[in-house]
Amino acid sequence: MPPSPPPQTYRVKNFGCQMNVYDGERMSELLADQGMNAAADGEDADLVVLNTCHIREKAVDKVYSDIGRILKDWGREDGSVPLIAVAGCVAQAEGDEIMARAPSVRMVVGPQAYHRLPAMLAEAALGKRVTDTDMPAETKFDALPRRRKVGASAFLTVQEGCDKFCTYCVVPYTRGAEVSRPFASLIDEAKRLVDMGAIEITLLGQNVNAWTGDDDKGRAQGLDGLIRALAELADLSRIRYMTSHPSDMSDGLIAAHGEVTKLMPFLHLPVQSGSDRVLAAMNRNHKVAGYLRLMERVRAVRPDIALSGDFIVGFPGETEAEFAETLQLVESLGYAQAFSFKYSPRPGTPAASMDGQIAPEVMDERLQRLQAALQRSSLAFNQTTVGRTCEVLVERHGRKPGQWLGKSPWLQSVYFEGEAALGDLVTAELLEAGPNSLRGGLLANAAS
Ligand code: SAH
Ligand code: SF4
Ligand code: F3S
Repeated sequence: MPPSPPPQTYRVKNFGCQMNVYDGERMSELLADQGMNAAADGEDADLVVLNTCHIREKAVDKVYSDIGRILKDWGREDGSVPLIAVAGCVAQAEGDEIMARAPSVRMVVGPQAYHRLPAMLAEAALGKRVTDTDMPAETKFDALPRRRKVGASAFLTVQEGCDKFCTYCVVPYTRGAEVSRPFASLIDEAKRLVDMGAIEITLLGQNVNAWTGDDDKGRAQGLDGLIRALAELADLSRIRYMTSHPSDMSDGLIAAHGEVTKLMPFLHLPVQSGSDRVLAAMNRNHKVAGYLRLMERVRAVRPDIALSGDFIVGFPGETEAEFAETLQLVESLGYAQAFSFKYSPRPGTPAASMDGQIAPEVMDERLQRLQAALQRSSLAFNQTTVGRTCEVLVERHGRKPGQWLGKSPWLQSVYFEGEAALGDLVTAELLEAGPNSLRGGLLANAAS
């Protein structure tokens, strides 16, 4: 490739989970730190970073079609095209193949190596094509610039990677082993986020409740210890965390739900299936009864907790009766919200070569039934909250003029009308419930 002038503008396009959103923000900060500007909405950029997700099917195809679209839409009059970098989990898993198949891609960078982007850019400017999918011992977090810009609700990655090796999942391969960021650097970053105006922080990790570290007095802490320390930050109002694994739900973390008022009454605790046989085949390391017991204990300390989950239908060998057990679990526990997916065979994972792969139409039909059950469950949960007065963190303009959309403590979407601004924490009464949102009435806004 011929040398190219250094890029002046960039755009980072995120796919996948919140960890990717966080990584995308950090990459943006890194590029801004190099003197580049974010491309304005709708305008082309000199550098495009595709921050990809590999969790379900067609991940790679999506990347190729995205590249095609960029080349088509963003070719300049002088015939030049933007520098394209592929980052994220597809880069980690399929980086070499992407380099071989897509000559327009100049950089491939994995989720643990993106702090090296500036050096890669320098090489790319010389006309080289560069791949970095190392999982270096030095952590990227130490090499990244300070956080620059955050909204009222900010993400903070505290733990990365996964050692669980569920038989269907690519994450242990794309993100590497479980690593916890040190306590002190997390407190520093959280303080910085709060100083910049964050009033809600969501702690992120592929298995966030596996976080461990030594606090400032050298005492070993789990995620609950970190949460309690963050709760001391005066200007921080809300703390959340996701995603949790049932095996890492410690007594201390459960207790924190009853004791730390800033810890929001919301728990994303994926179960995947309601059948013990399927859970074992998935290598989930717990049974249905254990999960039910966990939720009983959480509800004992925090009766109003909003439970959220992830489900997979059509795992290899799943029978109708086993699927019915998943429906049964949803009915009996009640989910405030949930994500449900058709099983997608991922290259290199054990489940992809298991016997009993389920036909697509069976998966479709099961997914529909599960989603109907989850919708009923969400509606029922939302109805139990009608009549409550709570704080709503304003996140967006609503569809109608004068309307706002925000999040309740239970992570419900609440829309209301009245005096407010983005980032306000207003007091509202929940008036009317649907399965996906509630109508609220504004009672007070401390900010106005
Ligand atoms: N660490 C989290 C999940 C991360 S992936 C946990 O264990 O709970 C997010 C969700 O994607 C998973 O909970 C699962 O429901 C879904 N998922 C992962 N791999 C999948 C696959 N191969 N097919 C379908 N869904 C999958
Ligand atoms: Fe994937 Fe299982 Fe790890 Fe979650 S716990 S990231 S589903 S391997
Ligand atoms: Fe996707 Fe990687 Fe997140 S595969 S779900 S972006 S950890």
